[in-house]
Amino acid sequence: MSASLPDLSGRHVVLGVTGSIAAYKSALLVRLLKKAGAEVQVLMTPGAERFIPPLTLGTLSEKEVLTEIFPENEEGSWTKHVALGQWADLFVVAPATAQTIAKLAHGFCDSMLTATALSARCPLLVCPTMDRDMYRHAATQDNLERLREIGYAVMPAEHGELASGLVGKGRMPEPEAILERGAEMMGDEHKPAADRASDSDTFPLTDTEVLVTAGPTREPLDPVRVLTNPSTGTMGYALAEAAARRGASVTLVSGPTTLDPPPGSEVLHVQTAEEMNEAVQARRDTADYVFMAAAVADYTPADPSSTKRKKEDTDEDLALHLCRTPDILKTLGAYKRPDQVLIGFALETDDALENARHKLEEKNLDWIAVNNPTEEGAGFGPTNRVTLLRRNGPAEELPLMPKADLAKALLDRVLMSHQEQG
Ligand code: CTP
Repeated sequence: MSASLPDLSGRHVVLGVTGSIAAYKSALLVRLLKKAGAEVQVLMTPGAERFIPPLTLGTLSEKEVLTEIFPENEEGSWTKHVALGQWADLFVVAPATAQTIAKLAHGFCDSMLTATALSARCPLLVCPTMDRDMYRHAATQDNLERLREIGYAVMPAEHGELASGLVGKGRMPEPEAILERGAEMMGDEHKPAADRASDSDTFPLTDTEVLVTAGPTREPLDPVRVLTNPSTGTMGYALAEAAARRGASVTLVSGPTTLDPPPGSEVLHVQTAEEMNEAVQARRDTADYVFMAAAVADYTPADPSSTKRKKEDTDEDLALHLCRTPDILKTLGAYKRPDQVLIGFALETDDALENARHKLEEKNLDWIAVNNPTEEGAGFGPTNRVTLLRRNGPAEELPLMPKADLAKALLDRVLMSHQEQG
């Protein structure tokens, strides 16, 4: 492996190549991935073969390039897309044409590439590559937004001279930049598929629906002002990602955050506590596990103005009239199925354990993770230190750790306990 490349030894990368003049850059990407130690399986759409021969990419990747789901003269291989979807640690589509992006956004599966994308449980990285006006067309931008919503990462096209002679955005990013982004997406914690299996084998979540909430809510005072809090959504996003990696079908209901959608989750974006409540209650009957990590506002302006409020021409203080928002978790607790597991989070600055235990009982929860945001490293940042309380069980203090590790630790404890119970 070259010193300047990330170490991808043992990683499995599926590279989807579609019909664009930039397909020649895919050959460079395959070389880089191979040099970094990855095993690469190239999938081409029929259109891509008009730009670069499969023989070139097959030779560089040392694997036969696949195009059709139902190859001629080959019996019994039609489930290959499912096997490849399980095999992959990362799926990159580069170059990704407007046509393939539209198909991915709408769940088409008319080629090996699109069918494998639907089967994949790994992070997906899409590199849109097309002419300037196609790229900025509302239809393409909507499709890219949809891809982000369903958890795909999208690398913006680069600005420059395009094959048509126009100048603008539409160029495929350089293979080195794609490699770097792909390596980041697999991350240190994403072990090769072979090792990952042992994680998910211990406490798998297949055939399980997991509902996670994350981030703050935003309560409008008027069209330009909101009441909110500093939650970043990191904990909920980490939980969603960790659950999806164990095979769960994950819905993430997210307040406004700046985070990329976690791979493998369906993301529903909401703003207010009321909208979050609606999204969550609509899914409560089918959810097996609910992680309520969002920092939901307890109060919202009683009478938000539809026009911008002007300041009064006096020195008098302004009093706001706030009313209660729905307590989402308490409602879930009231309708809880006996086999459903509810996990709450509590921020407490005083009498943490006593208050958290009270919330656990009042909201009919199975678990609650409590932290004191005034302790160093335990607030709205990238790390947290929580104490985990369970119904009728002792409290466990977990050490300070990054939220991605905490997500796994919480899942391990919750799943170990509930899967053992049967
Ligand atoms: N929660 C909720 N709906 C609300 C407020 C909170 O579902 N309107 C959830 C949070 O997502 C969290 C748990 O309830 O999982 C506890 O939240 P917390 O803010 O600590 O407690 P509150 O019940 O709001 O009580 P207080 O603010 O008085 O401590």
